Amino acid sequence: MPGMIICVCKAVSEKHIRSAVKSGATSLRDLTRKLGVGTCCGKCVPEAKATLSASLDPPGESAVLAAAHACFARTGTEFAV
Ligand code: FES
Repeated sequence: MPGMIICVCKAVSEKHIRSAVKSGATSLRDLTRKLGVGTCCGKCVPEAKATLSASLDPPGESAVLAAAHACFARTGTEFAV
């Protein structure tokens, strides 16, 4: 399963981003160069940054919260932790 699509324009999934991080990507610029993330409409940039951060951090609650923050920020929904 490819995982959740992060960048629709370039068909880049969460799994692709995690794989790029394992291969050495550490910034949005790296993801742009390797995968083309954010090079078309740019709507995926906040989600790509959140996925990048979650992939760089050790797995745990903080990674989940980072992804949730990006998702809710995009939709304008507020939540309390
Ligand atoms: S969704 Fe990533 S550039 Fe459009």
